[in-house]
Amino acid sequence: MSNKMWGGRFGEGPDAIMEEINVSIDVDRHLHAQDIAASKVHAAMLAAQGIITADDAKNIGRGLDTILSEIRKGSFDFKRALEDIHMNVESRLAELIGAAAGRLHTARSRNDQVATDFRLYVRDVIDQTDAAFADFQRVLATRALEHAGTVMPGFTHLQTAQPVTFGHHLMAYVEMAARDRGRFADARKRLNESPLGAAALAGTSFPIDRGATAKGLGFDRPMANSLDAVSDRDFVLETLSAAAIASTHLSRFAEEIVIWTSPLVGLVRLSDKFTTGSSIMPQKRNPDAAELVRAKTGRVVGALTALLIVMKGLPLAYQKDMQEDKQGAMEAFGALSLAVRAMTGMVADLVPDEARMKVAAGEGYATATDLADWLVRTLKIPFRDAHHVTGRIVAAASKQGVALHELPLSAMQAVEPRITRDALAMLSVEASVKSRTSYGGTAPKNVSAQAKAWLRRLEKEQKLG
Ligand code: ARG
Repeated sequence: MSNKMWGGRFGEGPDAIMEEINVSIDVDRHLHAQDIAASKVHAAMLAAQGIITADDAKNIGRGLDTILSEIRKGSFDFKRALEDIHMNVESRLAELIGAAAGRLHTARSRNDQVATDFRLYVRDVIDQTDAAFADFQRVLATRALEHAGTVMPGFTHLQTAQPVTFGHHLMAYVEMAARDRGRFADARKRLNESPLGAAALAGTSFPIDRGATAKGLGFDRPMANSLDAVSDRDFVLETLSAAAIASTHLSRFAEEIVIWTSPLVGLVRLSDKFTTGSSIMPQKRNPDAAELVRAKTGRVVGALTALLIVMKGLPLAYQKDMQEDKQGAMEAFGALSLAVRAMTGMVADLVPDEARMKVAAGEGYATATDLADWLVRTLKIPFRDAHHVTGRIVAAASKQGVALHELPLSAMQAVEPRITRDALAMLSVEASVKSRTSYGGTAPKNVSAQAKAWLRRLEKEQKLG
């Protein structure tokens, strides 16, 4: 049988392999709610403009409501022969209301339809993602406040560098999540224009009201150029870019959890809720959720790369290649949603080993910079020279196999005679973090102030809805 939608021109149906490569219903069925919403708004506009009768519009609207409830109930029969969600809905509408269904497609095309549907879908994804990252920030800031004074080793090159607080470390991810949310919000602003009414590519001769359909769907305005409207997928690319960066942040954090929970390091413990055991090694407690968060990043970055490559060779306007925009993006958004929720759960769950953290924070002469700073501050030695003096003191401690604060004062004075007992007080990890009061520094009072400010801000945001 030739196709119902374009059978006028066609004598034969498609080859099986043609149908197989062309079909998109398995993916775009997830756009059903957006497709139906856009059709309802379109039909109402057509009636308001006198392009179809009010009666037809009413029947179309009712039929579309029935279809939505059939899909929600699971009783809708998605047909692969009908290719995509648009034709599945239209065909069912014809069964339900008869000839009037054929008037719905006046002054539009599947090209502006799919662009509209997917914009609405991605907009919903952005809103859900924003809420999930706000939850993530809330849990991070709550734990940061709890651990504003918990000292842990800070690393560069994964080598113990200077003591920091665990709260400070967690707050770093609050800032990253804030930028992630900012990128999603930016993408949303540019996304929020309506392609509907661009029709196939050139616009239409019917006196449609694109402003009305845009408004009805919550868009800020109609897109200004019909060719651009049907062929633009920047909104997917931008959202995927934001998702790729956000996933990368989550992956870095996941990697830290993997490191921290390793028995070799032992800074943090996850409960049974966020670990798995081994089928052979009874002692194992594996951070699978963190590892999977790390791995899901591959899907998200992969989806971005894949779509960039799909788009890069496409002339204006619509090309069927663009049908490939949805599957990878939907999977990527799903992966990000899982990843952020899993990280939120792990942050709530994790328990730092404070005693171990404190010991580790002081290992590797982590307070050497504090001694150098003391020499600069008290003895007015230029920092470069203080660095050198401290280096010699560290070498002496290392030779004796003791920590910096365990080195006798006399051994320090052998290097720099003016060093007094006061300097020793600077060498504890607590004193070290307490002294880091510069803006953005790790001092416990900074960290609690930052955490509290974020919690207030998040609460306010939530109230504004
Ligand atoms: N399933 C198509 C897609 O996702 C809908 C648009 C089809 N348009 C067309 N001219 N064949 O892109």
